[in-house]
Amino acid sequence: ALQVATNVTEQKHHVSRDKRGQVLGHLRGFRGCTVWFTGLSGAGKTSISFELESYLVARGVPAYSLDGDNIRTGLNKNLGFSKEDREENIRRVAEVAKLFADSGVIALCSFVSPFGKDRDMARKVHRESDLPFFEVFVDTPLNICETRDVKGLYKKARKGDIKGFTGLDQAYEKPECPDLVVKTVDCSVDESMTQVVEMLIENGIIP
Ligand code: PPS
Ligand code: ADP
Ligand code: MG
Repeated sequence: ALQVATNVTEQKHHVSRDKRGQVLGHLRGFRGCTVWFTGLSGAGKTSISFELESYLVARGVPAYSLDGDNIRTGLNKNLGFSKEDREENIRRVAEVAKLFADSGVIALCSFVSPFGKDRDMARKVHRESDLPFFEVFVDTPLNICETRDVKGLYKKARKGDIKGFTGLDQAYEKPECPDLVVKTVDCSVDESMTQVVEMLIENGIIP
């Protein structure tokens, strides 16, 4: 049964964001935020997130990628792919990303996150803590994702071996007003990543 925490009181840290920023990285200053990649399986979320993680870390900016495939073997290994379990997956990840961001790290989240309501919740969790949150729609058409079939999952799902596969027999709700839409057709991972870098520069996150 679902338990609810009672009799808990917020315990305030003594370290300010300015102080955290002084300690962190080569490019000092607080840069904590979350970049949230959403899109179909095979859209390019992991590729772009990991490329961006390398780009930032190489420049002395602390960044860390939280990825669906990885989180689902650890923190969220007790969750499946029903609408309810995806919601709980996103809720937990949003809370973890918020902690990374609050610590001054750029949290890069790559999750299918197919439901608008869950992505809005992730944004709200950040807004309530005054942390920037950028929703990036990796906008790759289903037929391209299925042709790529990086992990052979579309083939399995078409055979009926996976139920509730996003884009096939479960919904993907496209973001209504994402902070950025990245195309991946006829451009390289590096070119797609550069669009995200430009967004971070425009928003004063990185110089
Ligand atoms: S979600 O919807 O945000 O909770 O999903 P996420 O945590 O990102 O996990 C998606 C990865 O799990 C694999 N996988 C599936 N994806 C979609 N639908 C179904 N039913 C499914 N079953 C397994 C797949 O590797 C997803 O990773 P990506 O990187 O998107 O391909
Ligand atoms: P996801 O994590 O969304 O499931 P992946 O990153 O695992 O997607 O797979 C995307 C695939 O598409 C990779 O094989 C990648 O090399 C390829 N790809 C081609 N062009 C791009 C691009 N511009 N951006 C991201 N991925 C791309
Ligand atoms: Mg992936």
